[in-house]
Amino acid sequence: MIETTDLSLEFLRVVEQAAIASAHTMGQGDRPRSDHVAVEAMRRELDAVPIDGTIVIGEGERDEAPMLYIGEKLGLAQARTPGGHQINARFPEIDIAVDPLEGTNLCAVGAPNAMTVLAAAPRGGLLHAPDLYMEKIVVGPKSKHVVDLDAPVADNLAAIAKCLDRRIEDLVVVVLERDRHEELIRQIRATGARIHLIGDGDLSAGIAAAVVGTGVHAVMGTGGAPEGVLTAAAMRCLNGEIFARLVVRTKDDEARCAKMGITDLKRVYRSADLAPGSSIIFAATGVTAGALLKGVRFFGDGVRTHSIIMQANPYQIRFVDSIHVEYHDTVRVQF
Ligand code: FBP
Repeated sequence: MIETTDLSLEFLRVVEQAAIASAHTMGQGDRPRSDHVAVEAMRRELDAVPIDGTIVIGEGERDEAPMLYIGEKLGLAQARTPGGHQINARFPEIDIAVDPLEGTNLCAVGAPNAMTVLAAAPRGGLLHAPDLYMEKIVVGPKSKHVVDLDAPVADNLAAIAKCLDRRIEDLVVVVLERDRHEELIRQIRATGARIHLIGDGDLSAGIAAAVVGTGVHAVMGTGGAPEGVLTAAAMRCLNGEIFARLVVRTKDDEARCAKMGITDLKRVYRSADLAPGSSIIFAATGVTAGALLKGVRFFGDGVRTHSIIMQANPYQIRFVDSIHVEYHDTVRVQF
């Protein structure tokens, strides 16, 4: 088991610093730069975490990503003494899934719900998912036993409404605004349920679906598989559920799955399949303000961040409001 209490604060620092870095680029319209500074900050901070870490969900393969690529080793286990020797200490073997900036476009245009995200588990605790699309339904604890990825949309929504003790018309379903979702949107509208179409960010929407009071009751549609694994890690902590299936269209997709040890291409995964770790840590910091998290706020002498840091086994969910004071000689914290 991970010594979760210690590491969760370490991982909190990682997502906070990535959020601060990318928030400086908010609204600049420079998508690659927003992503790059988040990646750089996350990579730098991860090297100070006392782990023997391996990236399992990251920025892609080594030849296409210079940092946070799949398989990259990081953490204090990689540190060397000034003489070039390995540090003489044992660190826990931890697999790490990152989305250094979930909603890169959102940050680049200053739209809501961009956040920095990381999940960690003891080695083998997070699925190595290829960067394909994934069909998904995400729901909270009350409706997690009634949903079926292959059931008609109307049946799923009727079942969710019943569990939440409300009419279908009172539900809010989040869907990524994409052409591929035209038929899904039509079917949801036909039930009378309300839809929140989002430009990006089905991961933060998934977390919102599992948190009472956010006004989101389900997320439906096809999004990224890496985001699916991260959503699963969050669901393990929140007792919600994701139902997911990889979208495998081509021989190349099949080969990418095979490379990651995935042979059953039609499998419907649930949270415990995508994030099976005996213990899980999930950390996210808001970059731009959203349904769940406030965005990064800069003031004269520092920066204020808002994060969620969660654990499964033992269960713990904390919202953390941090003030990072930058000029110690003239402390003037604003509330
Ligand atoms: P990035 O921030 O990594 O670009 O991802 C944003 C996102 O909207 C995810 O939340 C979602 O799962 C995925 O992209 C959907 O992919 P696409 O934009 O190709 O439809």
